[in-house]
Amino acid sequence: MKNVLVTGGAGFIGSNFVRYLLQREPDVKVVTLDLLTYAGKMENLEDLPRPENHVFVQGDICNRELVDQLLAENAIDTIVHFAAESHVDRSILGPMPFIQTNIIGTFTLLEAAKNAWKDKPGEFRFHHISTDEVFGALQSGDPAFEEGTPYNPHSPYSASKASSDHLVRAYYSTYNLPITISNCSNNYGPYQFPEKLIPLMILNGITGKPLPVYGKGEQIRDWLHVMDHCEAIYLILKKGKIGETYCIGGDNQPTNLEIVQLICEILDDKVPRADGKSHTSQIQYVSDRPGHDFRYDINTNKIQRELGWKPAHALRTGLEETIEWYLNHSAWVDSVLDKDEFSSWINTNYQERDY
Ligand code: NAD
Ligand code: TYD
Repeated sequence: MKNVLVTGGAGFIGSNFVRYLLQREPDVKVVTLDLLTYAGKMENLEDLPRPENHVFVQGDICNRELVDQLLAENAIDTIVHFAAESHVDRSILGPMPFIQTNIIGTFTLLEAAKNAWKDKPGEFRFHHISTDEVFGALQSGDPAFEEGTPYNPHSPYSASKASSDHLVRAYYSTYNLPITISNCSNNYGPYQFPEKLIPLMILNGITGKPLPVYGKGEQIRDWLHVMDHCEAIYLILKKGKIGETYCIGGDNQPTNLEIVQLICEILDDKVPRADGKSHTSQIQYVSDRPGHDFRYDINTNKIQRELGWKPAHALRTGLEETIEWYLNHSAWVDSVLDKDEFSSWINTNYQERDY
């Protein structure tokens, strides 16, 4: 691993990974390719360690010419593919960009990678970042998802990610392209865009706004700190077996209501409300997400056994650190919340939910 192309490196997980990799591998050069959609922010890439080893390129993964040029000019030997449309609610209201970026974009990268790899056999890796949502939904008592679980996606987001996973595997089976895939559960941590549950609850909590819980808040997600995800990806790049899939998760499965209550408890301690009430008084039940997956749980035995990975963050301390990060990064928060796009999204999404 000498020259790494990170797609989607200005987004939440990608930017944490770029920071992690530059710190961890002093000699690696990183090229970030990111379209800077509403979710991508240059602010996420401020204060990088070893910035001289990093190049940022604004562009679309669907642009084959640009991808070919970046792979050739930078002698790329490793692609870590994060770029995606990533929010389930947005995929319900407008699926087209999900089809374009997640399916056509991944296909474009695979074609370009296949072409670049023919000059570097044996020294090439395409690592595809995916989600546990491709496996569908569990009911109470079902065994956790694992690498061999059949695909059964429900939302346009998860269906587009499933499609991209199948394409990546097909390039391995058909052309021997050296790929690995990881399917990870819900991440939380610094730089997460506040359309997702945890940062939305933190920021609404701090500013006294309602905390919109879908349905009765009984759904269950597995939560993993983003730095534990970055460490897992790094280990897969270093020691993962070509052609293999690795499931990654945090072994933390609160209901949505429980995690919102935990966030409120931490906020009560760190930023008490002026009226002395708990932040839980801000919880508002809103109409449910259509096709809402009930439960995710992921078995991480394979990556623990084969690559020696295990998560380092407990949920409570991870959340405390994350809340501290949002409290200490008000300029970042302002730059996100100031955007017209964000307020228009909030209006559209939550109007649908009578909120
Ligand atoms: P994000 O929405 O924060 O970031 C996505 C990034 O991709 C943004 O910077 C955006 O500008 C960029 N992008 C979008 N379309 C692009 C295009 N056509 N060309 C180039 N760049 C483009 O997403 P995230 O939460 O950081 O997720 C990153 C990856 O991890 C995604 O593939 C997602 O499916 C996967 N994943 C996310 C989670 C999670 O909890 N967030 C869990 C498991 C897997
Ligand atoms: P989210 O962060 O959007 O991730 P995903 O849908 O990919 O799991 O949502 C996490 C859970 O929280 C999901 O069950 C939907 C729920 N949720 C709410 O109850 N209220 C909200 O405002 C949001 C954004 C999500």
